[in-house]
Amino acid sequence: MDAGKKSAAALMELEDKHGAHNYHPLPVVLSEGKGVYVWDVEGKRYYDFLSAYSAVNQGHGHPEIVDALIRQSTRLSLTSRAFYNDRLGEYEAYITDYFCYEKVLPMNTGAEAVETALKLCRKWAYEKKGIAENQAKIVVCEQNFHGRTTTIVSFSIDPESYGHYGPFTPGFIVIPYNDAEALRKVLESDATIAGFLVEPIQGEAGARVPDDGYLRKCYELCRKHGVLFIADEVQTGLARTGKLLACDHEEVRPDVLILGKALSGGVYPVSAVLADNDLMDVFRPGQHGSTFGGNPVAATVAIAALEVIRREKLADNAAVLGEYFRSEIKSLCSESDIAVSVRGKGLLNALIINNKNKKDLAWDICLKLAENGLLAKPTHTNIIRFAPPLIITREQMDESLEIIRKTILEF
Ligand SMILES: Cc1ncc(COP(=O)(O)O)c(C=O)c1O
Repeated sequence: MDAGKKSAAALMELEDKHGAHNYHPLPVVLSEGKGVYVWDVEGKRYYDFLSAYSAVNQGHGHPEIVDALIRQSTRLSLTSRAFYNDRLGEYEAYITDYFCYEKVLPMNTGAEAVETALKLCRKWAYEKKGIAENQAKIVVCEQNFHGRTTTIVSFSIDPESYGHYGPFTPGFIVIPYNDAEALRKVLESDATIAGFLVEPIQGEAGARVPDDGYLRKCYELCRKHGVLFIADEVQTGLARTGKLLACDHEEVRPDVLILGKALSGGVYPVSAVLADNDLMDVFRPGQHGSTFGGNPVAATVAIAALEVIRREKLADNAAVLGEYFRSEIKSLCSESDIAVSVRGKGLLNALIINNKNKKDLAWDICLKLAENGLLAKPTHTNIIRFAPPLIITREQMDESLEIIRKTILEF
């Protein structure tokens, strides 16, 4: 350690003392990242199997993305949308062509993009669908996670997320996930429904993969009832699940597509909402916006991040290595009493832990994984999510699997 550099303990204490306690991090203090690896302040190397909740699909410090960030930030970083800039139009043309939509609305965080989609849906309901003012409803699913704003937590069913944040935004109907019949019933019984907001795979709920055909059935029901199918692909999108979008597994083209996280490869907050003209033209000047949304750095970085996904065929790698990962973990489950099952798609996977005898076993396993050189984080009390950068090689995957295997068998 460099003389004068603070120890890990001192750095953790600083956060503890001066930062709000709205997170419970694993006790590792990271200071460098490259590709699938991160290093702590003592120089210990770890495989990153969280990828900043799937924001670092392209790997840490991808040279092309970092170069875009540096190049553009030294040239022009922020103009606000009070003026045109020479990067935004290029980006808008690029991303709409990439995902085959007519329009994009650029934002920064995932939650802001979700908020944008909700506003878009409601405005469309009043101005195009003819729903009476303030009556529009949006259907969402149990165990959803769409972000942390007051409106978004209004329709969370997790008391940790919504507790003591009321009064809440009305206008949401919560139905069970992976239950197209429940959607059919609600759509048939209520003509004021404007949209259905869904995660194609529920990420924060622990990589909950719905049955094959669920998304398509929901999409067709939405079509039939003139309701917008809104896909939150903030976590599942951008190659994570083995296709560019998780909706691609069922050839569903959402009316409204929400992206974030890996849209910047993790170097900058960039999110986006994509839709066609007949929807997006409900927004007129002054009706929605963000100081940073669509800034020249974000625009340049996002093009680089999307180029990398396509050129390095990250979706194909996620599909192949994801399949391999699950089959190896499945065989580990047959050898271990605490590893119950594995689920997921592509490289968004979760291991279900039997924590009957010890409530925080998943946390203890993650501590041990870190000790053994791999970082992962529990979600809820009995699920460990495994989501490495999508650039991971077969060799690196084998080494990671060996760490996971060794760790689980130590318990
Ligand atoms: C599906 C989904 N939507 C939205 C969000 C919110 O994104 P952000 O944390 O960038 O606001 C997340 C974050 O985990 C997410 O997983």
